[in-house]
Amino acid sequence: MKTVFSGIQPSGTVTLGNYLGAMKHFVDMQEDNQCYFCIVDQHAITQPQDRLKLRENIRNLAALYVAVGLEPEKSVLFVQSEVPAHAQLGWMMQCISYIGELERMTQFKDKSTGKEAVSASLLTYPPLMAADILLYGTDIVPVGEDQKQHLELTRNLAERFNNKYNNIFTVPEVQIPKEGARIMSLQEPTSKMSKSSPNPKSYISILDEPNTIRKKIKSAVTDTEGTVRYDKENKAGVANLLTIYSACTGESISTLEFRYEGKGYGDFKSDLAEVVVEVLSPIQEKYKELIQSEELDHILDNGALRANTHANRMLHKAERAMGLGRRT
Ligand code: AQP
Repeated sequence: MKTVFSGIQPSGTVTLGNYLGAMKHFVDMQEDNQCYFCIVDQHAITQPQDRLKLRENIRNLAALYVAVGLEPEKSVLFVQSEVPAHAQLGWMMQCISYIGELERMTQFKDKSTGKEAVSASLLTYPPLMAADILLYGTDIVPVGEDQKQHLELTRNLAERFNNKYNNIFTVPEVQIPKEGARIMSLQEPTSKMSKSSPNPKSYISILDEPNTIRKKIKSAVTDTEGTVRYDKENKAGVANLLTIYSACTGESISTLEFRYEGKGYGDFKSDLAEVVVEVLSPIQEKYKELIQSEELDHILDNGALRANTHANRMLHKAERAMGLGRRT
């Protein structure tokens, strides 16, 4: 049995991109693996957050983990800040990271460019992510394509630590889904769909009402050619909508191109809207049952207990390897 770890930031309500690129695949993995799925609230505060909104987003994300099909009996579901070993090993990972390699991270460049004040944590986000993963002896990390570079750094840090101190960390493999790995913004289809985007028309939230989904897909940017055809270079908007359609139904892009041959964007978009509504409706139903329940707190309490037990074991090994503290 392999160990799987992945996390999502409670920096907004998760989008269809987060669902198709990550969460959907978490569900498939829990059957045959020991899985840890984390709500990475310490990563969320690398950007300014409203405290009440952050609390709400943490709870929403927990409910959504369960609503998409993660089962607490099979997977450990927990909040990062409730397992202090993450921040502790995160610091140790920072100490073996180089500023140059952190500055090269695309996400750091994207999120810091043009900003007057950039928090130090935006730069040191990847060593914390490495700690998240390495604490559990993780073999596989299922993530969307945007996280590939951070995963490469995690592998480098694990090898660096193992070579320099003691061979304690498993070097994890990244697993990127074939479909839905990169869902793009509906308004700027050359940028990825993001939950923290200031323009709500650019993303579909997993909790959007059916009519909102219909409106957002209707107003999605396309082109003037009027042909439903996959051409990422010249027709980024239509290519993105085809990717979403295919990831939601499991049908191939060529099947979809064939179905919409000779039809305009209107029919294609309204069918796609219904497909998305159908995928999200059962998740929304389950979410509503869970969000105010005590069950959700029990799940997270139990998850934190299990995660702390495993994480502390690895943290102490790492502390011993580096010579920290007095414990033998
Ligand atoms: N557009 C996307 N398409 C496919 N997968 C995506 N993921 C994110 N956006 C897309 C995957 O979702 C998981 C959780 O991401 P995250 O919350 O940890 O951070 P992120 O990648 O920075 O996601 P967002 O939505 O863009 O958040 P903000 O706006 O706060 O930065 C990851 O596996 C990611 O690959």
